[in-house]
Amino acid sequence: MTTTATTLKGQPLDRGVLDGLLRRRMFYTPSFDIYEGVKGLYDYGPPGCGLQANIIDVWRKHFVLEEDMLEVDCSVLTPYEVLKTSGHVDKFADWMCKDPKNGEILRADHFVEDVLEARLKGDKEARGQKAEEKEKDAKRKKKQKAAEAVKLDDAVVQEYEEVLARIDNYNGDELGELIKKYDLKNPATGVEPEPPVAFNLMFQTKIGPSGQLSGFLRPETAQGQFVNFAKLLEYNQQTMPFASASIGRSYRNEISPRSGLLRVREFLMAEIEHFVDPQSGKKHPRFHEMENIELVLLDRHTQSAGSTKVKTMTVGQAVKERVVDNETLGYFLARIHLFLKKIGVDQKKIRFRQHMANEMAHYACDCWDAELLTSYGWIECVGCADRSAYDLSVHAKRTGAPLLVRERREEPLVIEEWQVDIQKKKFGPLFKKDGKTVETALLDTSQEQREALAKELGETGNLTLDVAGVGDGKVQISKDLVQIERRTRVEHTREYTPNVIEPSFGIGRILYALLEHCYWTRAHDGGDEARSVLSLPPTVAPTKVLIVPLSANKAFDPFTKDISLKLRKAGISCKVDDSSATIGKRYSRNDELATPMGITIDFQTVQDKTITLRDRDSTRQVRADEDKVIEAIRSLVEGDKAWADIENELPIFEGQEVVVTEAKS
Ligand code: ATP
Ligand code: GLY
Repeated sequence: MTTTATTLKGQPLDRGVLDGLLRRRMFYTPSFDIYEGVKGLYDYGPPGCGLQANIIDVWRKHFVLEEDMLEVDCSVLTPYEVLKTSGHVDKFADWMCKDPKNGEILRADHFVEDVLEARLKGDKEARGQKAEEKEKDAKRKKKQKAAEAVKLDDAVVQEYEEVLARIDNYNGDELGELIKKYDLKNPATGVEPEPPVAFNLMFQTKIGPSGQLSGFLRPETAQGQFVNFAKLLEYNQQTMPFASASIGRSYRNEISPRSGLLRVREFLMAEIEHFVDPQSGKKHPRFHEMENIELVLLDRHTQSAGSTKVKTMTVGQAVKERVVDNETLGYFLARIHLFLKKIGVDQKKIRFRQHMANEMAHYACDCWDAELLTSYGWIECVGCADRSAYDLSVHAKRTGAPLLVRERREEPLVIEEWQVDIQKKKFGPLFKKDGKTVETALLDTSQEQREALAKELGETGNLTLDVAGVGDGKVQISKDLVQIERRTRVEHTREYTPNVIEPSFGIGRILYALLEHCYWTRAHDGGDEARSVLSLPPTVAPTKVLIVPLSANKAFDPFTKDISLKLRKAGISCKVDDSSATIGKRYSRNDELATPMGITIDFQTVQDKTITLRDRDSTRQVRADEDKVIEAIRSLVEGDKAWADIENELPIFEGQEVVVTEAKS
């Protein structure tokens, strides 16, 4: 389970330095900072907003546009009844436990995970240390109040590793047992926390001034899509399969927000609900386009056996061997993989992990998470769940809305079945307020039950029905009130509730993991400390081009204005840095903002209208006239070309950026 995060160039990641950069350059910042902030709330600054907008833009093109999805934008405020019906009121909870000494609230699974991981880390250190180092380390640890370097038995190490591999699968009681069994203490107080209790993660509120309508801030965008299903199907001209999509904020009152953007209380989600006919075997018409994509998979059986060993296989193979259950699920795992690749996620730091049985959300029957490796370990960034017919069925049952598909059958279906006829006029006077309950219980009977009830009715003139909540739970109904007969029915249309495959993206988590994956430091010839670079692909980089006039010489102004105008007209974001800093310095402060290209305007520009174009990652440059450079930039931003293509097409410029110093105006 232990993992080490490295930068793009394989250097060990110094998270403190990266965090410092992200805050200093205002990628994001704690909300309400001057009021000491609130845990789990963040504001995005200009580069963060630019990056987020570009990730969303790629997402829309990759999913909504490419697959002709139906995008909706639904209310965040959601009435109580909707989330009661969906099961969130009763089941959308995490386990928390309280430290009796200082009152600290801990998320139970994270607490167990953290303490066991700290013990394993201590064991690793103890095994790797010489005696004198051990003594030094013990002193340091004492100061830091961190894990002790204590050697564990091999069997204990294995047991801890197995527990960690299964950590998402434990319920509250089981987490409580682990705390007792391994004598887990809160490092802050040295005290064992109280047994875990469930904590619902939704923010509850009142809608309207009367305070009578109770509601929640939505915890997912999905419910808005489900409740609109009938209208979306109508919009889609009753054609299946189809997908809806939604991008919007969701809210979860996380027990202990931590790890920056990774666990927050308000976050942007992009969710897809793909509706599919369950009788199709969940086939996908475009599966063949994805079947050769290779994925790294960690299935539930491997984890249940206490291991985290992954398998690499093509999606085609995974579906064939039923590692992944069906084509639609496999199709979306591959599409998610390609999306992450497109925005620049490190291919070596993606895996798909299947949920274990207890870990699954209440609505899911299967789920795979796209996890990205960060300095915080493997983090779920996209969940891809098979929600079966769960949501549409519960909402249809509660509201009576026809959340189903009606299709004309090619061949009519002849069905022989037991049918129930109720004499409603007599039901009311006899059962009074329980009439509806008894009627529903009768109509809910299975074919086998109906056959038995018909027999009883024929033989005795009465039937006995189990009806919870009415009298002693058993109700006698005579044959004047009900008939049960076997009849033939011909069906010309087929009705079914679609199943749903749901890829659900947390944009903030993806954005942070991407920043870690794209970060590295460049040694600097000038001798001062290494300079940070964020190598985001041009498509998602917040600002695409930095324009640097060589100096404040007025002769450069018309060129600066003209190029900025042309870039803006082409929809390419650019910034001018005409400060007096050296060219190298100006470039390097934009390397840490991830600006992928730089244009220099110099004296040669004034003579022949050529400009240089610099690549952030290699710092290499080409020189050509304005129009050619702008076309090169466009193709890099669109992702049509890579820098190597540009070097093949345009003349290389050998001037050295860092030694060009401020020129006098
Ligand atoms: P976790 O187990 O980490 O709490 P989850 O299983 O509750 O996550 P989902 O309910 O599957 O997450 O949510 C879908 C996506 O929303 C996740 O893949 C993640 O990217 C994002 N997400 C969920 N909770 C948070 C959060 N508190 N902060 C940021 N993003 C989140
Ligand atoms: N809609 C998926 C989730 O919230 O997990």
